[in-house]
Amino acid sequence: MRSAAVELRGISKRFDAVVANDGVDLVLHRGTIHAVMGENGAGKSTLMSILFGLVRPDSGEIVVKGEPRSFRGPLDAIAAGLGMVHQHFRLFDSMTVAENVVYGAEPRRRGVLDRRAAAARVRELSERYGLETDSDAVVGRLSAGARQRVEILKALHRDAEILILDEPTAVLTPDEVDSLFAVLRRAAGEGSTVVIVTHKIHEVLAISDEVTVLRDGRVTGRFTTADATSDALVQAMTGREVRPVGNAGTGEPGEVALEVSGLTVTDRGVDRARDVSLAVRRGEIVGVAGVSGNGQHEVVAAILGTQRAASGAIRILGTDVTSLDVRGRRARGLAVVPEDRRGEGTAVTMSTAENLALGHHRTPPIGAANGWRRGWMSLRAQRDQARRLIADYDVRTSGERLPVGALSGGNAQKVVVARELSHRAPVLVVEQPTQGVDIGAIESIHQRLLDYRRDGGAVLLVSHEIAELQALADRVLVMFAGRIVAEYPRAEATTERIGAAMAGAGQGRPQEPVP
Ligand SMILES: Nc1ncnc2c1ncn2[C@@H]1O[C@H](COP(=O)(O)OP(=O)(O)OP(=O)(O)O)[C@@H](O)[C@H]1O
Ligand SMILES: [Mg+2]
Repeated sequence: MRSAAVELRGISKRFDAVVANDGVDLVLHRGTIHAVMGENGAGKSTLMSILFGLVRPDSGEIVVKGEPRSFRGPLDAIAAGLGMVHQHFRLFDSMTVAENVVYGAEPRRRGVLDRRAAAARVRELSERYGLETDSDAVVGRLSAGARQRVEILKALHRDAEILILDEPTAVLTPDEVDSLFAVLRRAAGEGSTVVIVTHKIHEVLAISDEVTVLRDGRVTGRFTTADATSDALVQAMTGREVRPVGNAGTGEPGEVALEVSGLTVTDRGVDRARDVSLAVRRGEIVGVAGVSGNGQHEVVAAILGTQRAASGAIRILGTDVTSLDVRGRRARGLAVVPEDRRGEGTAVTMSTAENLALGHHRTPPIGAANGWRRGWMSLRAQRDQARRLIADYDVRTSGERLPVGALSGGNAQKVVVARELSHRAPVLVVEQPTQGVDIGAIESIHQRLLDYRRDGGAVLLVSHEIAELQALADRVLVMFAGRIVAEYPRAEATTERIGAAMAGAGQGRPQEPVP
C-alpha cells in the first residue's frame, strides 16, 4: 500500500445543534486521487475546511506525512504542503493571471515584484501539469474553467503536495471537466495527493482511486474505486435506492406564455446574445443547451430584467415587459432560479425564512392584501411558510432562523428552487437548477419541474448537463456564439447532435419563427 500523505483521525465538529462531522477517519494515500461523496449537508465541506485550517475541529487529529499538526489557519496548512481550490474563486479580477498566481508569495527583485520571474514560473507550472493558461490575461475576463486553472496554479506555486478541491466541477462544462481531470491525473502521477468532493458518480468512477462516503457527518462507506459500483455508492450515501425520473410526455402544450423576439444583449460593445427568438408554451419545458459563455446567461438576465436588451422584446402572457424592472416582471407572472445563487439568488446574511419569503412579502399569505395593513408582513406566516418549504424540499438545516450563508451549498440551492417554484408563476425560468445538489435532490427537483409543466407552467430550462435536458425538455435549443443554432424535438435530441451543435457545428433545423 502506498504511504499516507494525510490522516484525519476522529474528527468531530459541531455547529450549535448540528453535528457536521462525527468521529471521521480519512486516509489520503500519496499519489492518489480520493473522492469524498455524500448528500447535501453530510459534512464534506466542513471536513475539507478543517483539513485546510479554515475551521477548527472540536476534537480529532490531523497527521500530515506522519506528523501531527494543529492548524491555526490556512497559512499553517499551506506551510504543511496543502492547497485548496475554492469553489467560489478568491481571485482579483483586475489583476493578471501571473499576478494572481504569485500574490502573497511573489518572486521579488530589489524589493518589487519580478514580473518576468512570475511569468516564467506560471509557464513552468503550466507546462509541467498541462494547465493551459495565458499569464498576461486579466482574470476578470476569463471563463470559470480558466479561473479554476489559476486557482490550481496558485496552490502549485506554493508547492502544495496535497490538493483539496471542493466541488470543482459544479461550474464547469463537460470539456472543462475533462481537462481538469487530465491535470489532476498528471498531478497525482507527479506524486501529489488529491482529494475531491463531487456529487457526480460518473466523475467519481472516472477520476478517483479511492472513495469515502459521508452521511450525517459519519463515514458510511470506504471503497477502492475499481471495486465500487454506482449502486453501492448511492446506497452508502442515501441508505436507499434512487431511481431517475422519466419524462412521460404530456398532451398538447397550450398558448405561448413566454416569448422572446429578436433579443440582442450587448456588454461593453460585444454582442453576448444576438437576435435570439424563442417561445415557451404553457405545459411545455424548453431546454437551452450550450457551453457556458455562449449567451444563455445573458438571455436569462434579459428575461429577468437584470440586463438590458439592446434590441428585441420580451412578452409574458402576451404583455410586453421589456421596459419593466425585475419587480414589474415578476408581478406579471415570472419566476427565475438564477445561476448565481450567492449573488442574485440569495441574501446570505439573511435568515432562511427571509430568503424563502423574498418576492412573496407583498402578497398573501405573508403580506396583507388590502386594508390598512396592506403591504405589511406577517412574521408568523413567513415562519410557517418557511417551515413548510424546508420540509417539502428537504432543506437540511437546524431551523428557519439560520442565515442562508451557514447552509451547505446544496441546501442553499434548494432554498432558491423552493422559493421560486412555490410562486406557481405561469412562467418559470431556471438556470442550472440542480447545481451542487445531491442525487436524491436532483431527482426530486426534476420531478417538480415535470409537475410544474403538467400543471400548465411554461418552463425555460438552461443547463450545461445534456442528460438533464434530455430527461426533462420537450424541445432543446442550442446556443453558440450568442445565437440559437439548432433546435431538436425531444425524440431527436441525442447527445451527439446536441454536443456537435454546442461545438458550433450546427446541423440542426433552422429556428422556427415565433408565432
Ligand atoms: N458556519 C456554520 N454555521 C452553522 N452551521 C453550519 C456552518 N457550516 C456548516 N454548517 C452545517 O453543517 C452541516 C454540514 O455542512 P457542510 O457544508 O459540511 O455540508 P456538505 O456535505 O458540504 O453539503 P453540500 O453537498 O450541500 O455542499 C450542515 O447542516 C450545515 O448547515
Ligand atoms: Mg459543500
